[in-house]
Amino acid sequence: MAFLGIDIGTSGTKTLAIDHKGKILASDTQEYPCYTPKPLWSEQNPDDWWNAVVKTVRAAVKKAKLKPADVKGIGLSGQMHGSVFLDKNDKVIRKAILWNDQRTVAECAEIENAVGGREKLIGLVANPALTGFTAPKILWLRNHEPKHFEKLRKVLLPKDEIRRRLTGEYATEVSDASGMLLLDVTRRNWSTELLDALQLDRNLFGKVYESEDTTGQLTAEAAKLLGLTTDCIVAGGAGDCAAGAIGNGIVNEGVLSTSIGTSGVMFVYSDEVKIDPLGRVHTFCHAVRNKWHLMGVNLSSGGSLQWFRNALCRELAAEAKRKKVDVYDLLTEEAKQTPPGSEGLYFLPYLSGERTPHADPFARGCFIGLTLAHHRGHLVRSVMEGVTYSLRDSLEIFEGLGIPVKQIRVSGGGSKSAFWRQIQADVFGQKAVTINSEEGPALGVALLAAVAAGAFKDIQEACRSVIKVVRETKPNPKAQKVYDAGMPVYQQLYRSLKEDFKRMS
Ligand code: XUL
Repeated sequence: MAFLGIDIGTSGTKTLAIDHKGKILASDTQEYPCYTPKPLWSEQNPDDWWNAVVKTVRAAVKKAKLKPADVKGIGLSGQMHGSVFLDKNDKVIRKAILWNDQRTVAECAEIENAVGGREKLIGLVANPALTGFTAPKILWLRNHEPKHFEKLRKVLLPKDEIRRRLTGEYATEVSDASGMLLLDVTRRNWSTELLDALQLDRNLFGKVYESEDTTGQLTAEAAKLLGLTTDCIVAGGAGDCAAGAIGNGIVNEGVLSTSIGTSGVMFVYSDEVKIDPLGRVHTFCHAVRNKWHLMGVNLSSGGSLQWFRNALCRELAAEAKRKKVDVYDLLTEEAKQTPPGSEGLYFLPYLSGERTPHADPFARGCFIGLTLAHHRGHLVRSVMEGVTYSLRDSLEIFEGLGIPVKQIRVSGGGSKSAFWRQIQADVFGQKAVTINSEEGPALGVALLAAVAAGAFKDIQEACRSVIKVVRETKPNPKAQKVYDAGMPVYQQLYRSLKEDFKRMS
C-alpha cells in the first residue's frame, strides 16, 4: 500500500511517494515559469501545473518501484489563494492570478465597503481583505476583464483545479478555502452573507471537505495518464502552509513552525478559533478536523537572500560554480565573520510589499544604517536577521493573543543552514528544533491521503508515528540580548518609513 503527496508550488511541483507506515520511498520535481506581465503582477498557466503533476507522478511511482494498484491514495497541496477561472466547458479563461500578485488594492477596499468595514469583514471570515487573497481577484476580473467574467462558471484554487482534472469533482477543503476570504472560518463552510454582499454566486465554488476526507477517485482518463488505477482516492489535502505544518507535525497546542522558503511562514496550532481583531495575522481552518491555526506570512524571506544573490553577487555565483560549491555557503561564510546585530545595519525585507504584520503592498525593501565599516558579510547577515525579525513580529502577535508557544520547529530552505537556525533561536529567544524530514507539504498531504484511506486513525496518529524531533539549536544569551534590543528598532523603522513608501510608489 502506498500514497502520493503532490505539492503544486510556485516554482515547481513535487510528488512524494510513501508507504503505509509513512516511510519515504521516492520523490520527483518539475519546474515551470511564473509570468509577470506588469510590475507586481504574478501569473501561471494551470496546464503547466497539470503537465508537471503527470510527469512527477509517473516518475515518483517508477523510482519507488510501485505497481499501479499499490497507490491507494493521493493528497494534494498547493500554493494558496491563486485563482483558476473556468468557463462552462471547464476551459481556463485566463492565466491564474497567484498569491503574490498585488493588483487588487482597490478591490480589497471594495470588499470592506460592501460589508460595512474591515471589522465587520473580520467578523464574517476571520480575516481582513489582503491583495493576495482570492476574493479580490474575482472582483478584479469583474472590474477589469468583464468579458472574461461573463464566461466565468467556477473559481478553483490551484490544487483544486488539479483535483478537478484528477477526479472530475469541483471540491476544496477547509484549510485552503480559508485563504479565499469567502469561508466562514468558524463554521467551516462558505459565508453566504459575504457572497451575497459581493454578489457572487455560491455555485462558483466547489464543495468544502475536511482535509482528511475523501473527495473522489481518479477518473479512467486520469488513471491512464498517471499510470494508476481508478481505485485510487484523492483526499482533501491542504493549502501548502497547513500541509507543511502537518509535515512538521504541528497538530497539537503549543507547537509552532517557521518555514523559510521564498515566503516565510509562522504557523501555530490552535484548539479554538482565535482571531486577531487587528487582522495582522491570519486565522484559518487547520488541516486537522475541527481545529484551527494562526499564521503570519512574510512575502520575501528566502526570497530576500535569493534577490541579494541574483542582484549583487553575480561574480561570486560564477566563482562558486567554477569551484563547484554553493554560493549561499560562500555568502554564509562571509556573514559568519560579522557579529550579531550586523554592527547597526538593518534590512527590511519588504521587496514585494509585505503581508504580516503590515498588510502593505507599498512597503519596500531597504538596508538602513550603512557605514564605511560594513562589507558584504554584514549585508548578508542583516538580510537573514531582517527576515527573522519579520517572523518574530508574528510570534509577538501570537503571544499577545494568548496562544502558547512551547516549541518552535524550524523548516524550509533557510533553516537548512545551521547559521540561520542559530539566528532564529537567538531572535526568537527559544530553542529552534528540527525534525527527521524536510519533505514539508508533500509529506503532509501524503499522510492526509493515508488517513483518508484508513492507514492511520487520524492525522495526529500519523504524525506521532512518522515525525520525530532530531536536533535542537539553543539560543546564545549574548546574541539574544542584541536582538532583543534590535527588535524595537526594526519595528520602528517601518513606522517611520510607512508614509514615504506610499509617496515613493
Ligand atoms: C500563504 C501564502 C504563501 C503561498 C506560497 O498565505 O500566500 O505561503 O501559499 O505557496
